[in-house]
Amino acid sequence: MNVLLLGSGGREHAMAWKIRKSSYLNNLYIAPGNAGTAQLGTNVPIAVTDFAAMKHFALEHDIDMIVVGPEDPLVEGVYDFFRDDEDICHIAVIGPSKKGAQLEGSKDFAKGFMMRHQIPTARYQTVTLESIHDGNAFLESLSSPYVLKADGLAAGKGVLIVEDLNEAKRLLWEMLNGKFGKASDKVVIEEFLSGIECSVFVLTDGNSYKILPVAKDYKRIGEGDTGLNTGGMGAVSPVPFADELFMEKVRTRIVEPTIEGLRGERIEYKGFIFLGLINVDGEPKMIEYNVRMGDPETEVVMPLIKSDLLELFIGVTTETLDRKKLEIDDRAAVTVVMVSGGYPGSYEKGKEILGLENVTDSILFHAGTRMLDNKVVTDGGRVLAVTSYGYNLEEALERSYCTITRICFDQCAFRRDIGFDLRKG
Ligand code: AMP
Ligand code: GLY
Repeated sequence: MNVLLLGSGGREHAMAWKIRKSSYLNNLYIAPGNAGTAQLGTNVPIAVTDFAAMKHFALEHDIDMIVVGPEDPLVEGVYDFFRDDEDICHIAVIGPSKKGAQLEGSKDFAKGFMMRHQIPTARYQTVTLESIHDGNAFLESLSSPYVLKADGLAAGKGVLIVEDLNEAKRLLWEMLNGKFGKASDKVVIEEFLSGIECSVFVLTDGNSYKILPVAKDYKRIGEGDTGLNTGGMGAVSPVPFADELFMEKVRTRIVEPTIEGLRGERIEYKGFIFLGLINVDGEPKMIEYNVRMGDPETEVVMPLIKSDLLELFIGVTTETLDRKKLEIDDRAAVTVVMVSGGYPGSYEKGKEILGLENVTDSILFHAGTRMLDNKVVTDGGRVLAVTSYGYNLEEALERSYCTITRICFDQCAFRRDIGFDLRKG
């Protein structure tokens, strides 16, 4: 098979790494890719939302399957674009239809979906500028802290958690008046749920599903989960509290109603569903849906999948996923993200990364890198995801931290406490 993978981060490098191992693979192209993906296939300079260029490329290179990393192309309808054009409808797209992508593209749609299918989640109210008074009244009925979410995509910045009621009302007004552009024309106000979060990934062909290894990511820049939110500073899998009992609740109360709900509402969905869950006293509750894999969770989930990923994807496109076997590695995997100093604020790019060739005990997934004069240089806030296996999380973490001592670039930073909240004792 010839595969075109969309995206350019650590998630896509990890997917490319896994796809490369498939016995079904002929050629792998990554659009636009990074210095890491370039070692596994051919990078092509096409933007992830340039569907016309994608069509042209796909026909020219005899592409059989498009695997979508980030949410933007899905929310903009890449699945429907290929499905509805007779020249390219033979090319499978791994992802939901545009309607299905609303689970991530609109928080109001996602909450409505959860309500219709009795999926446990926080109480909420959706407000617009016209109904701001109802929104303020709803805020008054809740206790601190208050959760305000822009309805649309806001580059991961659209969720505000506020302690003070008056501040929450002020921010609600600001959001409804364009704080996040059109994305916050509608705002979802939610009850705050307290607990520890995890990410559950499901692969579905629209009828049956497979649950992939459960992961936990670390979003804040500072140790002890402090400071600003980032794209993700590390991840671990498995997650000790996501035991059999917890996962049985996730399966029966969340995964199955989600798949049934999509079917019942005739929403085409052939791809990944990312359940952002919170464990509230042993009860899983939905925080959010995403319609793609997580980053950096993918950098631990892909290494733990033993089955051939393209075979699973073939099961997805031909609706025979129930006949495919998902084999999982019984080791632990962790990833620690090395970032550019200053991130998530402003930072410099173009720093040469040294020591990449010294790494033997970990897998390096490139997040923000590029080639410059035959050298690998930094090209983003998140630069490298350093993934390691271990018999347990502790051992895997030790390996990644040891690897990090062998790699250097000017002003490199990373969190030293990935997994801190899951350690025993
Ligand atoms: P997002 O940017 O959509 O990934 O959400 C940001 C983060 O906000 C989530 O990962 C949670 O940590 C937090 N969050 C969102 N909704 C709630 C809620 N209802 N209660 C507590 N925390 C929440
Ligand atoms: N790691 C969370 C996300 O990908 O949204």
